[in-house]
Amino acid sequence: MYKAKAYSVTSATSPLASTTISRREPTENDVQIEILFCGICHSDLHTVRNEWSDLMPTSYPCVPGHEIVGRVNKVGPAVTKFKPGDLAAVGCLVDSDGTCPECQAGFEQFCPNQTLTFNSPDKHLGSVTYGGYSDSIVVDQRFVLRVPSNLNLAGAAPLLCAGITTYSPMHHWGVNKGKKVGVVGLAGLGHMAVKFAHALGAHVVVFTTSANKKEDALRLGAAEVVVSRNAPEMQKHAVSFDFILDAVSADHDINAYIQLLRRDGNVTIVGAPAKPFAVAGFGLLFGRRSLSGSLIGGIRETQEMLDFCGKHKITADIEVIPIQKVNEAHERLLKSDVKYRFSIDMASLKSE
Ligand SMILES: NC(=O)c1ccc[n+]([C@@H]2O[C@H](COP(=O)([O-])OP(=O)(O)OC[C@H]3O[C@@H](n4cnc5c(N)ncnc54)[C@H](OP(=O)(O)O)[C@@H]3O)[C@@H](O)[C@H]2O)c1
Ligand SMILES: [Zn+2]
Ligand SMILES: [Zn+2]
Repeated sequence: MYKAKAYSVTSATSPLASTTISRREPTENDVQIEILFCGICHSDLHTVRNEWSDLMPTSYPCVPGHEIVGRVNKVGPAVTKFKPGDLAAVGCLVDSDGTCPECQAGFEQFCPNQTLTFNSPDKHLGSVTYGGYSDSIVVDQRFVLRVPSNLNLAGAAPLLCAGITTYSPMHHWGVNKGKKVGVVGLAGLGHMAVKFAHALGAHVVVFTTSANKKEDALRLGAAEVVVSRNAPEMQKHAVSFDFILDAVSADHDINAYIQLLRRDGNVTIVGAPAKPFAVAGFGLLFGRRSLSGSLIGGIRETQEMLDFCGKHKITADIEVIPIQKVNEAHERLLKSDVKYRFSIDMASLKSE
C-alpha cells in the first residue's frame, strides 16, 4: 500500500477537502496511473450529496471522479497493454467478474459483480473504491483505456463518462444521416451528445432551459435550438423525432418529449434524477413509441468511442480548474452554469 493525495467528503453536507488515501501497490495485472486531468460529472455531485441513497448509498469518506486521464507510472509483471510513460484513461468501471453473460458480451456496465471507480466495495483493500479526484490510481489493465495521442488531455477526460454515455445509446438506436435527433439538457452529457449526433450526420435539435446557450448549441453542431419552457416552440416539433436523448440531472416532465416522437421513435434517458418519472402511458401507446434507459458503455465500446473521437477530433468543451475550486464547481453545476464540462488539472493537487 502507498499513500495518495486526494479530495474527499466526509458527509452529505460537508465540502470536499484535501486528504490522503491508501492505494494498493500494483499487483500482477495492475497499471498505476499518475492522474493528469479528471472531469467533473453530475454523478459525482449526486453521490457526494447521497442523492441516490435508495439505490446506491454513499460510503464516507468518498473520493469521486470517473473521467480520468493520465500517464502510466508503473505496471505489474503480467501487464502487456501498457508501459510506463504511456497515456492512459479510466472511466466509471475498474473491475467486473469477466465471466458472466454480460461481461462475455462486452457489457461490463451490467455485470452483477462490477466494481465502480468510486463508492464500490474495494476487493483489494476492503473499504470502498476511491475515484479520480486524486493524484494517482491503480487499475486492472482490462479496465484501462488508450487515449488517441492527437487529443487535448483536459478535453479528453470527460469522454470517459460523458462521452461513452452519449455515444453508446446513439449507436444502439441507429443514429445516422437522415435521422432527426433531440438532445435534452445542454451541459456535460448533452454537449457531447450534440457533437456525436452531428458527427454521425443526424439533424440535431437541442432542448434547453437556458436561452443563453442557444448560440453555443448551434456552434456545437445543432441545426435548431428550442427553449423547452416555450410551449409553442415545443409544439412545432410534435410527432417528428426518431430519437431523443434526455440528459437532464433534475426532475422534469418526460411526457413533453415523448409527444415529440414519430411512430416507433424512442426517448432514451441517461440523466439520473433521484425522483421517479411520471410517465403517461397513452403517450407511448399512440405511435408505438418507446422509453428506455442507458448506462455508460462497456470497455470495448469505450475504446471504440475514444478512437472515434481521435478520428473526428472530438473532445469536450472544458473549463479547466484547480482542485481548490472543486466545491465552487459543484455549486455551479447545480445552477447549470458550466460550459460545458469542468476538468480538474491535477497538478494543482501537488501543493496540498
Ligand atoms: N446514464 C449514465 O450512465 C450516466 C452517466 C453520467 C451521468 N449521468 C447522469 O446524467 C445527468 C446529467 O449529467 P451531466 O454531468 O451532464 O450534468 P450537468 O452537466 O449538470 O447537466 C445537466 C443539465 O440538465 C439541465 N437541467 C438541469 N436542471 C434542469 C431542470 N430542472 N429542468 C430541465 N433541465 C434541467 C441543464 O441543461 P440546460 O441548461 O440546457 O437546460 C443542465 O445543464 C446526471 O443526472 C448524471 O448523474 C448518467
Ligand atoms: Zn459520470
Ligand atoms: Zn460479469
